[in-house]
Amino acid sequence: MHALLIGPVHSGLLYIGAAQEMGIKLSVITTDEGWYKLSDDLRAKVTEVITVESYDVDLLIHEAQTLHSQRPVGGVVAGSEYVVGQTAHIAKALGVAGFDPDKVDAVRNKATMRRTLQEAGVRTVKYAKASSAIDIEESAKRVGFPAVVKPLNLAGSVGVALVRNETELLAAYEDIVTMNIAEATKGQSKEQAVEVLMEEFLVGTEYCVDGWVEQDGTITVAEFVKVGLGPQPHFQEISYLSYRREDLACADELETYLKDVVRALGFTVGPFHSEVMQTNTGPVLIEIASRLPGDHLPELTETATGISFASCSLATHINYPVPRPKQPQARVAGSQFIIDHDAAGEVYTALAGWDDIVTRSEVDSAEYCVLPGTRIPPQHDFSSRIAEILFHADSVEAAEAFQKEIVEHVRIIQ
Ligand SMILES: Nc1ncnc2c1ncn2[C@@H]1O[C@H](COP(=O)(O)OP(=O)(O)OP(=O)(O)O)[C@@H](O)[C@H]1O
Ligand SMILES: [Mg+2]
Repeated sequence: MHALLIGPVHSGLLYIGAAQEMGIKLSVITTDEGWYKLSDDLRAKVTEVITVESYDVDLLIHEAQTLHSQRPVGGVVAGSEYVVGQTAHIAKALGVAGFDPDKVDAVRNKATMRRTLQEAGVRTVKYAKASSAIDIEESAKRVGFPAVVKPLNLAGSVGVALVRNETELLAAYEDIVTMNIAEATKGQSKEQAVEVLMEEFLVGTEYCVDGWVEQDGTITVAEFVKVGLGPQPHFQEISYLSYRREDLACADELETYLKDVVRALGFTVGPFHSEVMQTNTGPVLIEIASRLPGDHLPELTETATGISFASCSLATHINYPVPRPKQPQARVAGSQFIIDHDAAGEVYTALAGWDDIVTRSEVDSAEYCVLPGTRIPPQHDFSSRIAEILFHADSVEAAEAFQKEIVEHVRIIQ
């Protein structure tokens, strides 16, 4: 069997090891530049690396068809969020399972996602789209306060803000437009740059609820991760806890809801990664993607459940039986980021207490995201995470206690 991976970055690279372990040949199409640069180690594990100048859909289809004519491709996999749309078109061109290109906007555009859910009668958030300051005032009348405003065309929680009144709303809108105009040079149009979504502020606990769809339509929810957030009005992800289903009281409710979401949005094969708010009236989708979750979530879930998310997802793409979980290494697995907004914009020299924590038996790995001696970015998003610690524990309580200990013990020295 031979599969094709498009534009892998971060967790998308896990497919390479998974394919090797499963004895599946895997070719990669990539720009091989910047974040997409493939290491020599990974390059050695793939059948063929096809380098392209860009992720232009026609170019990708051409390369995929050429490969397919020489070495038939049994499945096409998106290696990152940015190539999900192109991957749908390639799958169709090659005649293999994939997202219907006519429906893929439902997992790429948050406004389409919400409208599709609404039409299918699946619980969704109250929302309105706006593309000018006047529009946004109209949106406020429909959605009310408090609300969340977010760009339609960015990711990484960039520009997402809680607003409590019209003044905050207009300020947040200006911020998004300024940021988006800066991004406009990277390929998005002026029209896209001013588009935002305003939606009802959902109160509750946030979870990533993730899994995969097999070609016979079977939907499996395999990952439940509680997301810890930083102080409002931002929504910076500062910690994760990956649970076994039996340790999470709302797991069945989340699973039932997610299956409705996945069916309504038209997933036909491969992984899904969602962010869901468990509110006091039930789960409500924040967003869902047709790719593996990022931020080491697959590694956390493998530690706690033995499930290899990349192997299971790859299996669905090539219509292989989904591999059984391995023996889990721990009951719970977590991740804690070191963040200090008091030191935002400053250079720091070291992390006090770091060595004591990272040598603990609970810790599986620890790495700096912002190196000592460099400036800590001021944004309340992924860029201001100073370091990340991945760990495991015997119980949810022990995991939560260890997260607290990390936060209290590790301090920035300026
Ligand atoms: N309607 C809402 N109510 C409450 N919180 C929300 C709402 N929308 C977004 N959030 C919070 O903001 C975060 C980022 O929002 P969203 O996922 O829509 O943006 P994003 O740019 O795709 O971010 P990321 O790439 O980090 O997931 C969410 O994970 C959630 O914590
Ligand atoms: Mg999100």
